[in-house]
Amino acid sequence: MLSLDNSYNAEDLLDFDRKARELTGINDIEYCIEPKFDGASISLIYEHDQFTRGATRGDGVEGEDVTTNIKRIRSIPLSAPFSKYGVDLIEIRGEVLMTKAAFKKYNDGLAEQGLPPLANPRNAASGSLRIKDPAVVGKRNLEAFLYNVSYYTTVAGHHTTSNLLASHSGTLQMLWECGFRSPQKEKQVVKGIDEVIKHVHDFEAMRDTLPYEIDGMVIKVNDVDLQDKMGMTTHHPRWAIAFKFKARQATTKLRAVEFQVGRTGAVTPVAKLEPVALAGVTVGSISIHNEDYIKEKDLMIGDTVLIERAGDVIPQIVKSLPEVRTGEEKHILYPKKCPVCHSELFRPEEEAVWRCINIECPAQVVERMIHFVSKDAMDIKSFGEANVRKFYELDLLKDVPGIYTLDYEAIGKMEGFGKRSIDNLTAAIEASKQQPLHRVIYALGIRYVGETTAKTIANAIHDVFELEKMNEEQLQQMEDIGVKVAQSIYTFFQNKENIKMLERLKELGLQMQNIKRAASTAKNTLHEQTFLFTGTLNKLKRTEAEEMVEKHGGKIASGVSSKLNYLVAGEDAGSKLEKAKKINTVKIITEDEFLKLIDEN
Ligand code: IVH
Repeated sequence: MLSLDNSYNAEDLLDFDRKARELTGINDIEYCIEPKFDGASISLIYEHDQFTRGATRGDGVEGEDVTTNIKRIRSIPLSAPFSKYGVDLIEIRGEVLMTKAAFKKYNDGLAEQGLPPLANPRNAASGSLRIKDPAVVGKRNLEAFLYNVSYYTTVAGHHTTSNLLASHSGTLQMLWECGFRSPQKEKQVVKGIDEVIKHVHDFEAMRDTLPYEIDGMVIKVNDVDLQDKMGMTTHHPRWAIAFKFKARQATTKLRAVEFQVGRTGAVTPVAKLEPVALAGVTVGSISIHNEDYIKEKDLMIGDTVLIERAGDVIPQIVKSLPEVRTGEEKHILYPKKCPVCHSELFRPEEEAVWRCINIECPAQVVERMIHFVSKDAMDIKSFGEANVRKFYELDLLKDVPGIYTLDYEAIGKMEGFGKRSIDNLTAAIEASKQQPLHRVIYALGIRYVGETTAKTIANAIHDVFELEKMNEEQLQQMEDIGVKVAQSIYTFFQNKENIKMLERLKELGLQMQNIKRAASTAKNTLHEQTFLFTGTLNKLKRTEAEEMVEKHGGKIASGVSSKLNYLVAGEDAGSKLEKAKKINTVKIITEDEFLKLIDEN
């Protein structure tokens, strides 16, 4: 499997075109342009229309056999009608990737388990391809784009192969017709290099709107005969070139490491970097998660490090560059005591983090409140981290319930707090009382309970105080809640102080019940409930799903409004989901939750 030559600007492309014209003797070459998918390269073999073998690129000569795992990727068909095109054996080439949505879900899952995130979808995709358990691979929601035919033989007796194979754009079409996801819709065929230059720049401008990461475009001579005429070097074909987009990676110096105490007492090392511009922001510090992570990435103070900002993911360190060390670098030393309250730190067995176990530790108290008001939790707009810190330092805020009993008179006397900002603040705090139970549960900041788990819990109960009576086994009955998470929830609800806090929040008017569940189980029917589907569904066709709703007496809504009961959000859901999030009464559920709901009814 060859690689591609790279270009970075218009001049490089002009150069490429000049050589192509020389080699072919043609002046106005037709080019096919398509995205350069940022994933893991694969090669697939189909024999007599059946998928028989799949391999990674490896060093280009020898890769890994990943046939079993490839079979778990939904967009790769197990059989494809190549024989219709006169093709008997065929080797096709493509890229396995994780969509931004799947990647976010994957990283959220890691975060819920207290594990550090992966730096980019590419690493996630190539890692997933190598997993030993194919069932796990299936759950990663990998996608594959196929973009090249490397080799094929023709069916005996079939005197011609399809003329689609005579051009690259035709090849993409054949792959598409055979059931593959090829860049059939994303491709563009143009004449002459000027059009190419215009197109790649236009495409770069809309790069962030794609549901997956691309790191450039690939320009290919469209005519296969011309491709053959141009040939290849030992490294790359002469008929194709990659146009690389502005890098989302940069190198910088790791200057120092600071240790921050989080809301669960975890002491997290944060790398202080020489500030560097990266994809539109200046990066000055990056979490380096835990001791194991530091070891794995081989990080030292003084190191040059490669950092990356993939899409909307928080910047991560990809690796250190030990080859440029000077000998002056220093090991990163972990503190023995909490940097805030100075109590001794513990590292529980089979955990990667050191913890401050003093739950009164001011750092933890403040972080818990910051989490509580944050966007994904109670979403108390205009409160924010800065105000939590300020009010805490001035003794105006001691704990979470205190958010609802602020002394506005005292706050009004502070600098920067006019009537308008106090009005905004009180309105936002008041509005948060209507937040649904799953947000309240998430806002509590129970370890390992992220947004998804909080929703699972909220869906399984009527009232938050039921959790006080549940044992670990009962908790594990809930979908996707394992031993570790159940233990953590159990511990939280056995703590009298936590129950007191919840009672206090209830008195203050927060939502402690799952209202919709209470109502719908009373009737135990979807009768008169309105549904709307958005994004891509994986298991059902849109029409099938809508029929299911109607069969159960529900209705399909035409848009998101306060009249909508359920928004079923599939993959890459967009504006409807954003809109629904702003309406407290709309229940947002996944495709699986929808199926469960239908099942229960
Ligand atoms: S064509 C023989 N087309 O980029 C030509 N490659 O940096 C084979 N890649 O190793 C490559 N998108 O893994 C081609 N649309 C695309 C691509 C693509 C991503 C990868 C491929 C290649 C690497 C080179």
